[in-house]
Amino acid sequence: MKTVVCPGSFDPITNGHMDIIRRASGIFDRVIVLVASNQEKRCFFTARERADMIRRVVLEEGLPNVEVDQDDGLLVNYIQRVGAVAIVKGLRAVSDFEYEFQMSLTNHKLLPECETIFFTTSSRNMYLSSSIVRQVGTLGGDITQFVPPCVYPQIHGKLTQKEV
Ligand code: PNS
Repeated sequence: MKTVVCPGSFDPITNGHMDIIRRASGIFDRVIVLVASNQEKRCFFTARERADMIRRVVLEEGLPNVEVDQDDGLLVNYIQRVGAVAIVKGLRAVSDFEYEFQMSLTNHKLLPECETIFFTTSSRNMYLSSSIVRQVGTLGGDITQFVPPCVYPQIHGKLTQKEV
């Protein structure tokens, strides 16, 4: 049984993330989508909100071999704990490459048996990122085409919430 982990901030989940998760679920026996902590980012949605939204989308899409989890620690420790064979990540453009390459090499140094597999993004999602969704949504733009429909109300609601 081959388990892979799709880690990320998912702040929030986008159609681009779901495309990678769906494709991974078609290849591997078990896919764990991991809401992990990125110390370089201050997230807009709580880890609980992010994980719950992904759970809802996975359920809605009917992907029985996909699980969702949260972890605050080192990714390689999690990989070891669940016995995963690889990390799966999406690559959109050259701009993603350096950062992803660095993380992949670091994880490999920390845990030599840990491979990282990159899926090239579908061309329709090349421009899409969580930060684009947050920017457009916060300024009142239409984000319906960027995020899965079942979590749109929650994402839209929190992005347009006014500070009091
Ligand atoms: O979606 P992101 O923010 O680009 O994902 C980055 C993430 C969360 C996968 C990365 O920061 C990570 O692996 N965090 C867990 C902590 C860790 O192991 N950091 C060292 C990575 S080399």
